[in-house]
Amino acid sequence: MSDFDLIIRGGTVVNATQTCEADVADVADVAIRGDKIVAIGAHLAGSAARVIDATGRLVMPGGIDTHCHVEQLSGMGRMGADDWYSASVSAAFGGTTMIVPFAAQHRGNSLRKVADDYAELARRKSVIDYSYHLILSETDPQTLHTDLPELIRSGITSFKVYMTYDQLKIDDYQLLDVLAVAARERALVMVHAENNDVIRWVSQRLLERGYTAPKFHGTSHVALAEAEATHRVIQLSRLFDVPVMIVHVSAVEALSTIQAARKIGAQVYGETCPHYLLLTEDDMDLPGTEGAKYCCSPPLRDAQAQESLWEGLANGTLQTLSSDHAPYRYDESGKIPYGDKTTFKQMANGMPGLEARLPLLFSEGVGGGRLSLQQFVALSATNHAKMYGIFPRKGHIALGADADIAIWNPEREVTLTTATLHDQVGYTPYEGRTVRGWPEIVISAGRVIVSDGRLDAAPGSGRFIARGVPEPHTVEREVSPRATFFRTLALTREKQKNY
Ligand code: URP
Ligand code: ZN
Ligand code: ZN
Repeated sequence: MSDFDLIIRGGTVVNATQTCEADVADVADVAIRGDKIVAIGAHLAGSAARVIDATGRLVMPGGIDTHCHVEQLSGMGRMGADDWYSASVSAAFGGTTMIVPFAAQHRGNSLRKVADDYAELARRKSVIDYSYHLILSETDPQTLHTDLPELIRSGITSFKVYMTYDQLKIDDYQLLDVLAVAARERALVMVHAENNDVIRWVSQRLLERGYTAPKFHGTSHVALAEAEATHRVIQLSRLFDVPVMIVHVSAVEALSTIQAARKIGAQVYGETCPHYLLLTEDDMDLPGTEGAKYCCSPPLRDAQAQESLWEGLANGTLQTLSSDHAPYRYDESGKIPYGDKTTFKQMANGMPGLEARLPLLFSEGVGGGRLSLQQFVALSATNHAKMYGIFPRKGHIALGADADIAIWNPEREVTLTTATLHDQVGYTPYEGRTVRGWPEIVISAGRVIVSDGRLDAAPGSGRFIARGVPEPHTVEREVSPRATFFRTLALTREKQKNY
């Protein structure tokens, strides 16, 4: 009988900070028993059923992707190409060991039923650990005062709301209702911040004049619409002093709005995605409808935005780098429902990125001298775990943590192609791009699920992870008398009796 199930020997262990047992970038062995890390140190004594020689490799926490759309209907009612199996497999090959997609409530649906149905899909198919957020499109009493609090208390401690998309958006009054519940229940609100009316107004006029090509998607989702909505939701959140996460930040103006708001004490956090760092609006400007492959919301911006976002990642304005994987095929099921007659308003929004997320961040961020290895780990795993209530169980290499580990060869060059990626989308916006650095071995809860380019994991072998209180809610902080007053005011009389 061996002392351990698995030992990773001689790799360079990288954590986001030095607070874990393994110092940052220390050559060390990592021992695993069952699903946990049980020993870390140089030249660990003891035998193991399996030994991995990680000499010359980086041993890093498996990535966590807290913004991806999997087996989910879009606002337009389009189904993405990836189910929980293909998405989780694709994530695993890209060094990600936990995904947190969305159970989406469309108007008229019961939030509870949406969540239960989605949980069942995940339970049967995911090959890596998972959780999910909720998407809220209704604020009726059953949703807001029964289903949502119950779901939060059962470990679904975050949810997303939309300020745009006619079919999903909630108005400011509803936003206040939602923020009040989040403050009381200690959940994290993720916000898709774009001003719907600006987009609608500009789109209408573009279409009337015959400007229908994909690139006009970018024109209609003008940066000031993102900045205005970002500013607005931050100000609304200040009424209750409740944290908000602005997802998929793309515009310089939105980024500086977040920065400025934080200086005056707003609890605002930010996320961006690889496509905003590596692609620009020029990518949408292709013949015919081809540019639809590059349409996402908010849209791709320019080189200046790219530089600002890299800076935002490095200086802590943005906490997480997520894929926003939105796997719509370039056919009538997704991007071009009306073939070459499809206008920019009719194209499914979003692009794939689950598998490429971390290799791109590593290659362009660390390899490009923009991020340290420690920042890479923070942005790919640790900060996700903290922001979404999974830390210290996940997001670092430490005693007692889940053995979710990606062993990277920092020198390996890989050319990204649709044929070699594992999603079902049928195209990649990064076709032909060569990255340097690749996660060769991926370990999920102690199981070696990817090695030698092969998968060894059955559908349903991933586990649901009930999440705790997001870290922004746990930071000691004096809630202002104003926020306390408005939080109380937000409670119904019935609820006031119970608090
Ligand atoms: O364009 C995008 N990002 N599509 C996915 C849905 C969303 O808003 O995140
Ligand atoms: Zn969004
Ligand atoms: Zn999204």
